[in-house]
Amino acid sequence: MSKAIAGFSKLSKQEKINWLANEHFSDPQAAKKLLENYWNTDADVQKLHDEFIENTITNFYLPLGIAPGFIINGREYTIPMAIEESSVVAAASKAAKFWATRGGFKATVLNTEKIGQVHFMYKGDPEKLNAFFKATKKEFFTDTETITKNMQKRGGGILNIELRDKTALIPNYYQLHATFETVDSMGANFINSCLEQFSKTLREEALLYTAFTEDEQQIQVVMSILSNYVPNCVVRAEVSCPVEELNEDKNISPEEFATKFLAAVQIAEVEPYRAVTHNKGIMNGIDAVVVATGNDFRAVEAGVHAYATKEGQYSSLSHAKVADGVFTFWLDVPLALGTVGGLTTLHPLVKLSLEMLGNPTAQELMQVVAVAGLAQNFGALRSLTTTGIQQGHMKMHLMNILNQLEATDDEKQQAIKHFEKNTVSHSAATDFVNNLRTIDPAHVEEDFL
Ligand code: MEV
Repeated sequence: MSKAIAGFSKLSKQEKINWLANEHFSDPQAAKKLLENYWNTDADVQKLHDEFIENTITNFYLPLGIAPGFIINGREYTIPMAIEESSVVAAASKAAKFWATRGGFKATVLNTEKIGQVHFMYKGDPEKLNAFFKATKKEFFTDTETITKNMQKRGGGILNIELRDKTALIPNYYQLHATFETVDSMGANFINSCLEQFSKTLREEALLYTAFTEDEQQIQVVMSILSNYVPNCVVRAEVSCPVEELNEDKNISPEEFATKFLAAVQIAEVEPYRAVTHNKGIMNGIDAVVVATGNDFRAVEAGVHAYATKEGQYSSLSHAKVADGVFTFWLDVPLALGTVGGLTTLHPLVKLSLEMLGNPTAQELMQVVAVAGLAQNFGALRSLTTTGIQQGHMKMHLMNILNQLEATDDEKQQAIKHFEKNTVSHSAATDFVNNLRTIDPAHVEEDFL
């Protein structure tokens, strides 16, 4: 292990890069050059990115694409999507176009409550703890007034605090379970600051509570932290149209399409292996917008998948039905998002993405994100139940393979033409390009033009 590891965080950016290049790469100069190639030419922009995290050595690009033409609650949106997977943006745009002529998407925020908990140990009489909590509850609100003042001005704050007895799960384990409204911010800092104050108040007030024995006064706080499970911060996205209007594909009747589509959703509702992939497709849309708008996709992912198991078994987030000849497809998804605070005012591309969406409130952003998830799910199920996923997917993937093979523009054009009629696979594309490179150019023209 190199000596540079001790005190590594104190080294300058260049010293860190030098250490890394010399320690881990056979060609240190090439490694350094590559890292530098991804630096922003504007030193201020680079400094901004350097300071988002620790030990930054360069930037890691994700493409930012756009899916235009989304009609959501009667309003048109162009949705920014930051994602590396080919065909996601194309599928979103296609679904947007399909539903734009069928009434568009509807989205409704069902509730916006966030949750945080103080987990603590209390060895004593539960009745006395209840009485103590009742007597001191208002102190938790007054002691957090300096933290909640601004949030209250914006219409948010602490909604409630409950004492929860969890001793059936772990001996002596209790919680302060608090609910919050954080308006347009995701609220992580606000909630965690309130919780840490609750924990202080809890310990201090217990020491002063004379009905407690000395042992009972010694409340042990294990931790204070928000929950990324937000089952009461849910948005619904929905599309519907008469079955006969599901008539895009000439190879399948609208009725047959609706029947297969409903069966595909039902399978995801009852079969966890399918549900995970089905929901992964939804997250393709959700994560891409969450990342583009500077939100915490790990929090969203964790919360969404927990929500998918709320009935006791992992299941589909989306549902579909046909009633009175009308096809309806909808998605309920918990999303704790912010449009102020965090990266939203710092990252220039996040600012741009939010402006593209008309500087939405957090509730509007919840609607847009849920719609992106539903659109993605619709596109995936439509392909899966008709042509199969590979046809569209591999065509999009072809360009990635060709880029990997460092194909020239001319090779790319020939490959695209060839694979219009042939199945794309990594080996078929490699063989095709290798073939082009070894055979007589005159022959190529004969074969492929
Ligand atoms: C691929 O990224 C996503 C899909 O597998 C989703 C699905 O199967 O529903 C196509």
